[in-house]
Amino acid sequence: MAKVIDGKGFAARVRGMVAEGVTGLKARGITPGLAVVLVGEDPASQVYVRSKGRMTVEVGMNSYEHKLPAETSEADLLALVARLNADPAVHGVLVQLPLPEQIDEARVLAAIDPAKDVDGFHISNVGLLATGQKAMVPCTPLGSLMLLRDHLGSLEGLEAVVIGRSNIVGKPMAQLLLGDSCTVTIAHSRTRDLPGVVRRADIVVAAVGRPEMVKGDWLKPGCTVIDVGINRLPPAEEGGKGRLVGDVDFASASEVAGAITPVPGGVGPMTIACLLANTLTACCRANGLPEPEGLTA
Ligand code: GUN
Repeated sequence: MAKVIDGKGFAARVRGMVAEGVTGLKARGITPGLAVVLVGEDPASQVYVRSKGRMTVEVGMNSYEHKLPAETSEADLLALVARLNADPAVHGVLVQLPLPEQIDEARVLAAIDPAKDVDGFHISNVGLLATGQKAMVPCTPLGSLMLLRDHLGSLEGLEAVVIGRSNIVGKPMAQLLLGDSCTVTIAHSRTRDLPGVVRRADIVVAAVGRPEMVKGDWLKPGCTVIDVGINRLPPAEEGGKGRLVGDVDFASASEVAGAITPVPGGVGPMTIACLLANTLTACCRANGLPEPEGLTA
């Protein structure tokens, strides 16, 4: 049976490290600040934004929440981003996605100061990561990398297969694994013989958004599985809430893998922990101070 990787516990440790870093900054009269912008009333986004705000305050940072109506114009959102870029009390700016259709997502992401881009979505940060330079790194891939390093130690020379090619997870995850000297394959929904490709991997990162797609018999015995998926299955009964599952069939995969992250309680909690880590990193860089150890790529 595979070891179940405790992402929830590890995320609490990361937040503890962030809190220590914040204490050190406060002793110098600096308090890191994170601004989160939510446009509209998407229920899932509201839940995320609420827990982001709560955890930001818990680690001792200032949290600035900006809630704008769904009919906000692109110009008004860009004006708010410009104000946050210019505000010295704000070290991280996050615009919650998805945005309403009248707003061009790419234009908004491009308007965020790359130094405050704690999501790591700005093309400057994408380019810096791809060329192996100091960047702000997307939170979910960064959290996944931390879990892998914690479980495996050095990743050098290992075969890694990333399933999924999104800009938010798949592509930056592949860059990070390459940075740690893995041999990296990016597979996706159109990959031929996906089980055969996955079976080569020492490390499998599943980020395709298809519930329980990766089966135990796709895996090399002893491999490490990072399940980024969060999918809600249809409710079994009327009015009930469907079960949350990942992109990996946990029951069969845990019979074969050496270690696996659960859903929930695996990668999910690491994402917000890394958002806080990125805000601390951005604050240190803005003040010309050394970066926190163990919290960056
Ligand atoms: N919506 C869902 N996940 C994310 C995220 O990581 N960052 C932002 N900005 N929006 C999201």
